Amino acid sequence: MSTVRVEDVAKEYDLGRTKVPALRGVTLAVEKGEFMAVAGPSGSGKSTLLNLIGCLDRPTSGRVLIGEQDVAALGDDALSDLRARTIGFIFQTFNLIPVLSALENVEFPLLFRGGRHGGRARALAALEAVGLRDFGSHRPDELSGGQRQRVAVARALVTDPSLVLADEPTANLDSQTGEAIIDLMLDINRRAGTTFIFSTHDPKVMAHAQRVVRLADGRVVDAT
Ligand SMILES: Nc1ncnc2c1ncn2[C@@H]1O[C@H](COP(=O)(O)OP(=O)(O)OP(=O)(O)O)[C@@H](O)[C@H]1O
Ligand SMILES: [Mg+2]
Repeated sequence: MSTVRVEDVAKEYDLGRTKVPALRGVTLAVEKGEFMAVAGPSGSGKSTLLNLIGCLDRPTSGRVLIGEQDVAALGDDALSDLRARTIGFIFQTFNLIPVLSALENVEFPLLFRGGRHGGRARALAALEAVGLRDFGSHRPDELSGGQRQRVAVARALVTDPSLVLADEPTANLDSQTGEAIIDLMLDINRRAGTTFIFSTHDPKVMAHAQRVVRLADGRVVDAT
């Protein structure tokens, strides 16, 4: 069973007077437990594709299925629920909340899940899993770039998602730190079976992927 299916998806951004075709018919199946990279030049549609898979946006045409569920059939509430329960996000610029400590940032997604989940303990465990047990009280500006991205990885994982989407997670890190983040993601992929889809420009980062899907001008040009 595929975790993600993208079927002939097109996305056009409507800028009023002009329309920008960002994806022009992308078809892709991602199996559970894959560690997959999306590569391609700037403007090729990587972020657009990840946003559609993450249900942050809807395609102009075509279908996106997450765990066999056609997401177009879901209303906004059901979509938010799907996102909160099954998908973790990691962003290029970390997107941590500056006034919250590392621990509070990691705990944050649990607030949207309703019920009681022992949030503090789970957040601590997630921080420990990324090697930051002793940094829980630090605010983002008291952490290095690599440490901030580790916090973001912990935040993506704290809800125990089956799918993690990472849009250029290493782009703001030096190459050694970037590779360490990818290794951390790979370790989680192997231990927990979490599916990862990440985009990158960096051939060194791509080399860690099990599979690389290349985009150019909104189309898949080479899937290995
Ligand atoms: N919100 C938007 N409104 C209008 N056009 C957009 C929007 N987002 C992206 N685009 C356009 O869609 C195309 C694909 O953009 P996208 O951000 O998906 O590319 P990318 O591969 O992620 O690029 P990069 O490597 O620079 O992040 C580009 O032509 C871009 O200008
Ligand atoms: Mg992008």
